[in-house]
Amino acid sequence: MTTARDLIAAAISQRYGERLAPPALGNLDALAVLNARSVCRRYKPDPVPDPVLRLLCATALAAPTKSDLQQATLIRVADPVKRAAITSLLPGSPWLAGAPELFVFCADGWRFRRLFSLRKVAFVNEHLDAFFNASVDAAIALGAFVSAAELAGLGTCPISQIRDHIGKIDALLELPDWVVPVAGLALGYPESKEPLSARLALSATVHTDRYDREAVERELGAYGARRGRDWVGDKVKQYGVETRGDFGSHVRGKRFGLA
Ligand SMILES: Cc1cc2nc3c(=O)[nH]c(=O)nc-3n(C[C@H](O)[C@H](O)[C@H](O)COP(=O)(O)O)c2cc1C
Repeated sequence: MTTARDLIAAAISQRYGERLAPPALGNLDALAVLNARSVCRRYKPDPVPDPVLRLLCATALAAPTKSDLQQATLIRVADPVKRAAITSLLPGSPWLAGAPELFVFCADGWRFRRLFSLRKVAFVNEHLDAFFNASVDAAIALGAFVSAAELAGLGTCPISQIRDHIGKIDALLELPDWVVPVAGLALGYPESKEPLSARLALSATVHTDRYDREAVERELGAYGARRGRDWVGDKVKQYGVETRGDFGSHVRGKRFGLA
């Protein structure tokens, strides 16, 4: 019988090219699910029940939040007209139309600034760190949501491509000042998932006591063979053209100070 430990060891070997014998722990079944995760871009048409959505939102927002400021806001796009408008902005991702659910994870500095308005106190922290904190909170909630969904038998795919059309998404979702989308998240019961994708070896991404540049260089040389494609070349090509050059001006337009 295949055990959770076998599944974890197999996923880690495939993902990182590393042999690891999982220690005896509780919740190994959950760790097996999380280690085998991959994005899902093909969904069954079955709706996701409201109590499940609510549970996933609650779990995501139970994640840590910078200074207890709670600067993540999740917007569920339930209106079919709004869903269709977003889908039509992303013709390169037609699969999105088949996702039963779409959420947008926002960095929310508006709610935080309301506290200062309510107490009639000037907000004196309008600088890059404030934007960064709100973005990190939204990203943490996104990650926690993805893991919770996976454990609940659902599949997800984050969609930063919504930021290619930041002005239109902003208007469609009626976002106040200081609220900026970090990413969308498609959600549903998986019809199929993408194959597990190999990551850089942990030697390149987990360092001890000091940043290990040599380990990074070694892995950048070796990774392509394990990945089965020229990952370095692909990423240089992908990011060799300017994308989202307007994002900074959008964020400044939403009144975040970025100095
Ligand atoms: C913040 C974020 C934004 C992403 N945006 C997109 C996107 O716009 N479109 C898409 O198809 N996948 C998107 N993805 C999914 C990644 O392409 C995917 O996670 C990556 O290729 C690794 O695959 P894996 O998650 O299956 O390991 C995004 C992932 C993250 C974390």
